[in-house]
Amino acid sequence: MIIAIDGPAASGKGTLAKRLADHLGFACLDTGLLYRAVARDVAARGFRLEDTWAAVATARGLDPLELEDPDLRGTAAGDAASIVARIPEVRAALLAYQRDFARRPPGAVLDGRDIGTVVCPDADVKIFVTATAEIRAKRRHCEFEARGAGVAYETVLTDIIARDTRDAGRPNAPMAVAADAMLLDTSNLSIEAAFDAAVGLITRKTGH
Ligand code: CDP
Repeated sequence: MIIAIDGPAASGKGTLAKRLADHLGFACLDTGLLYRAVARDVAARGFRLEDTWAAVATARGLDPLELEDPDLRGTAAGDAASIVARIPEVRAALLAYQRDFARRPPGAVLDGRDIGTVVCPDADVKIFVTATAEIRAKRRHCEFEARGAGVAYETVLTDIIARDTRDAGRPNAPMAVAADAMLLDTSNLSIEAAFDAAVGLITRKTGH
């Protein structure tokens, strides 16, 4: 079974995907980390993020096992990710890994921007997670505070709005709600309540 979770920046997709995967005994892939890692490695090699050749070569050589890097979670890494994510050949280079992952038995949960539309258009369940930009910024700001990263709330808000605009506006695999996706607005839901609501949606769709 494949569960596709998409949504804008800091919408809580990652937390939800992990909780669902644990609950169902499925594998879980945070696809944003792939783009974040490509951007990190392009910059580490001294290339500009807009350098298509460097970004594509890096994406083709990416070791998906090297995603456990706390620096990948920061604002700068997210921004950089959305720049390399605009390059169609970068997206193409990461596609096979994501699709193979999705086929892991007994099932997989993938979260990102284009899982329900491009990576796994045949996913059994598609959920698009939303929340207002202010609430998303507040939650992400709290996460940063907890990790001791001194980023102002206003900076986080500006960043997620800019990233959403870039992600929704790119011509190739833009962030979009799949025609058959179910919307989950978590603006007024705790993590627990969002998890319960998502389990309800999955049960309604699959009977599991
Ligand atoms: O956790 P957050 O929602 O802030 O971001 P993320 O899911 O880690 O994604 C970082 C960036 O990678 C996004 O802003 C997108 O530009 C890009 N991305 C994408 O293009 N396609 C995906 N399936 C996942 C992420």
